[in-house]
Amino acid sequence: MYNFTYHVPTRINFGKGAISHLSELAESGSKALLVYGGGSIKRNGIYDEALRILSEAGVQVTELAGVEPNPRIQTVRRGVDLCRQCGLQMVLAIGGGSTIDAAKVIAAGALYDGDPWDLVLDGSKANKALPIYSVLTLSATGSEMDKFAVITDMSKNEKWGTGAPCMVPTMSVLDPTYTFTVSRRQTAAGTADMMSHTFENYFTREQDVDVQKEFCEGLLRTMVKYGPIALQHPDDYAARANLMWAASNAINGLVGNGSANAWCVHPMEHELSAFYDITHGEGLAILTPAWMEHVLSVDTVADFARYGHRVWGIQGLDDYAVAHEAISKTREFFFVTMGMPATLREVGITDEKNFEVMAQKAADGCKGSYVPLTKDDIIQIFRAAL
Ligand code: NZQ
Ligand code: ZN
Repeated sequence: MYNFTYHVPTRINFGKGAISHLSELAESGSKALLVYGGGSIKRNGIYDEALRILSEAGVQVTELAGVEPNPRIQTVRRGVDLCRQCGLQMVLAIGGGSTIDAAKVIAAGALYDGDPWDLVLDGSKANKALPIYSVLTLSATGSEMDKFAVITDMSKNEKWGTGAPCMVPTMSVLDPTYTFTVSRRQTAAGTADMMSHTFENYFTREQDVDVQKEFCEGLLRTMVKYGPIALQHPDDYAARANLMWAASNAINGLVGNGSANAWCVHPMEHELSAFYDITHGEGLAILTPAWMEHVLSVDTVADFARYGHRVWGIQGLDDYAVAHEAISKTREFFFVTMGMPATLREVGITDEKNFEVMAQKAADGCKGSYVPLTKDDIIQIFRAAL
């Protein structure tokens, strides 16, 4: 197990009605930037409720609406300008990962002397930020409780993850009822995303990390159990609550610290989003089984067999047979049970023309992964997913 420091200072207020905790923003001042997306929070009433609580707490808001899925640096720059011009003291995101990620880089950008894109390219330049608060409305990314943000510049076909301790939210509201209105498509994509975060941590060369691996297996079984229930019954509280808390714990360091190698399916997916603006969780679902098949070998078969036994309950003594069945089950879960697109073609990527450049860009991030991947490996995985 590697050495690590585990420090997650985010106060989590979990459960029905937890939005009342927005009154705690008053501890950071009286002027907030409210960041949100395309309007779902107005349709489901969260916006009105938040404004009422903030007003009672004496917090005035300036709004930045319209954060895109795959949030753009141009929107982040607008948020930074608003913070500077209006002397705002904190940033409140209400939405999914895209909104929270944008809010994080805005909060750091407001106190950075330069263009916020610098912070996307190099997280170590973000050494202070306005306090960040979030109300989560989509279970997926874990952004509500981690230090990461992923920002896109479509004009350059670049999408990069960054991260800094100052970008960890101060407080996040996790009310599972707020995810009742999430569409089937985004529910499935969110489930695939949280599963992928768990896989990225779970498949590791570290052999003595039982705590992390057992936690991962529990998280994966929970996601496999409740993802389909949330799809069938969007207002099932138990399903939404378990997915929400599982997603936060898949990426907040609990299962990654001390154990994880560099991630690799994520860098590959970020290239797909950077070039084709696809939904992150759908890209991950398409790539994951192709990646699993690509890295299955005599060196990794025991890990995949363990995954089959522990997560899918597959019986059998032959490791290869169990591993192959586990990969089939993963495929079936995403593409049949959760009804997700199964190929790159289905999300509009119909030819190989960008594979070379995308693979080149992803390769750096995949060098230190569970099974190190070269540019050629990545091209093969993209082809298998096509
Ligand atoms: O924009 P609005 O109108 O709010 O609609 C959103 C959006 O269209 C909608 N939505 C959200 N909550 C809803 C809802 N619709 C109805 N009811 C609700 N309660 O869902 C759509 C997708 O939202 P988005 O925020 O883009 O989804 P997600 O949470 O999956 O975030 C994806 C982004 O996060 C990044 C991804 O790369 C992508 O850019 N990631 C961030 C990470 C992190 N910060 O740690 C890690 C992840 O691996 C990921 O890379
Ligand atoms: Zn992800």
